[in-house]
Amino acid sequence: MSKGTYYVTTPIYYPSSKLHIGHTYTTVAADAIARYKRVTGYDVMFLTGTDEHGQKIQNVAEGKGLHPKAFLDEVVGEIKKLWETMEISYDHFIRTTDDEHERRVSQIFKHLYDKGDIYKGEYEGLYCTPCESFWTESQLKDGNCPDCGRPVQSTKEEAYFFKLSKYQDRLLELFESNPEILEPKSRINEMVNNFIKPGLEDLCVSRSTFNWGIPVPMDNDHVIYVWIDALSNYITALGYPEETEGNFAKFWPADVHLVGKEIVRFHTIIWFSILMALEIPLPKKVFGHGWILLEGGKMSKSVGNIVDPVVLIERYGVDALKYFLLREYTFGQDGLFTNEVLLNRINADLANDLGNLVSRTISMVEKYREGIVPSASDATDFDVDLKLVATSASNLVDKKLDNLDFSGALEEIWKVVRRTNKYIDETMPWALAKEEVLAGKLDTVLYNLVESIRLISALIQPFLIHTSRKIWEQLGIKEGELTVWDTTYQFGLYPVGTKVQKGEALFPRIDVKLELEALEELSRQAKETAAGASKEAEAVEAPSIPLKPEITIDDFAKVDLRVAKVIAAKPHPDANKLLILTLKVGNEERQVVSGIAKNYKPEELVGMDVIVVANLKPVKLRGELSQGMILAATSGEKLTLVTADIEDGSTVS
Ligand code: MSP
Repeated sequence: MSKGTYYVTTPIYYPSSKLHIGHTYTTVAADAIARYKRVTGYDVMFLTGTDEHGQKIQNVAEGKGLHPKAFLDEVVGEIKKLWETMEISYDHFIRTTDDEHERRVSQIFKHLYDKGDIYKGEYEGLYCTPCESFWTESQLKDGNCPDCGRPVQSTKEEAYFFKLSKYQDRLLELFESNPEILEPKSRINEMVNNFIKPGLEDLCVSRSTFNWGIPVPMDNDHVIYVWIDALSNYITALGYPEETEGNFAKFWPADVHLVGKEIVRFHTIIWFSILMALEIPLPKKVFGHGWILLEGGKMSKSVGNIVDPVVLIERYGVDALKYFLLREYTFGQDGLFTNEVLLNRINADLANDLGNLVSRTISMVEKYREGIVPSASDATDFDVDLKLVATSASNLVDKKLDNLDFSGALEEIWKVVRRTNKYIDETMPWALAKEEVLAGKLDTVLYNLVESIRLISALIQPFLIHTSRKIWEQLGIKEGELTVWDTTYQFGLYPVGTKVQKGEALFPRIDVKLELEALEELSRQAKETAAGASKEAEAVEAPSIPLKPEITIDDFAKVDLRVAKVIAAKPHPDANKLLILTLKVGNEERQVVSGIAKNYKPEELVGMDVIVVANLKPVKLRGELSQGMILAATSGEKLTLVTADIEDGSTVS
């Protein structure tokens, strides 16, 4: 019987093939809560996806000579592969380029327009023509475009606006009457004091300076700008507005949108207002988690630390990485990442506490009872407390997870792990084994240890599913009746007489010093490869150089271009960048001085058919006469002469 429904979302990711562990944080948390809700009997919808429209993506794709969709298909494929490696149990992956999403966003936009919440106005801003981007005064760098450094012009253009200002009072009232809607609480103050109270301005929700987006339904010169497109994914994925009976009726309003703190503003102020305008219920909660940072800055600028989740998973396994992310950091706060913190956490909690508990217990059952778990008989002084701690954990975990306190929930489970380890120290089974009269006590201790491990293995399944499965194998039980969440309240379900079997260490102990050295070396190599790749990219990508002012065909017709054969070439005696070429143009010979010494050796040039601007006024260059110039294509340091496979003297037009 289902306990109800649960709908959890992550933000949809900007497509980048290099997601670091900071990016995976939201998804790992969403995965844990989704798995937890499933094992506790809920019908879960876990949504994630990719945010694929906008100028940046269009530019990157075009820079690679690809259509945006072709570029995106590849990158999105890599993101999906990463989620597969990390065993992210999403139920639906939405792409904002999905036909269904595009159609539904268009309908939402039209609906908001028809009811007057979207209107056409004028967008005023500072525009950089080559970059096709609008900037605000504060975004400029030294008064120029922050991307390319060129001057910007103040421009006005028609655009569509969402009436955000209309919702200001309702938002204030909402945060006052329903503060649970945004957590942690401190984020409410930030929204109210920094954004809402100073006054909300209407929001520009269309662009006409690029076209990689969903067209505005009533005006195809404009595309819908990113936030209406992106935020709507949470409802279009459920069928809204086309199908409101199925998943939308079942799962909306969302139980929680998990988002990083920097996008809380969009998910509360803008998203809540859009939902108010659409007259549909608001999500029950938005949780703005903190950032995982590196000392000195952002994760994307990592030096010395490995932040690539794939590398970390290869070395320590997916369970260790997920456990670390959820246990190490308090979900609502920022935290620092270093490889050392990661390795120490794996060693302390996973290799020592949990790994040792399982291997010691199985070894003892094998050693003292030939691997067959005996039934408990003579009680020890420590049984009652052990059972109490073990069976009360699930309630405490429930409470912590209701508040999305992942670290606290894991801490509750580890209290059981540590209590069980302590039980071994207290009861000293190796001493009990020495005296026949204490055999009944030893049986009890071995049974209680195995049963506590069974409870622990069931409790950790939302977070460390592989580890649970490995433990079940060693305990000789199958996933099912004995491993479901509801059995974590009961002590004594493990079937007496079951044979246990030692397996490999769950988490081999890491030599931190050696491993840190290895990671540093890996990071150094990765940096070198990245530097090589960016140099290559620099060499391959032609810089975007602004066009010169327009000319007419008559202007162009004034230039007399001719094919010329190079019949001699030598270095300029006074300038090492210049070569002196003798050209044959039909039945005329002339001398041209050209700045190509860095790119061509004189002997390479002889015999080449190049193009010369034949009617250029002659000049002297460093004392040598130059009668015209030859055409060359350049990109950064690269230069290649333009050639023609036709007899010299031919005209070029
Ligand atoms: N596309 C928008 C979201 C639109 S939702 C309608 C976006 N994408 S993102 O790829 O930049 O970020 C995705 C998630 O990764 C965000 O929740 C963001 O906070 C999170 N993180 C990215 N780097 C992070 C850390 N270093 N630490 C923790 N989370 C961070 O924003």
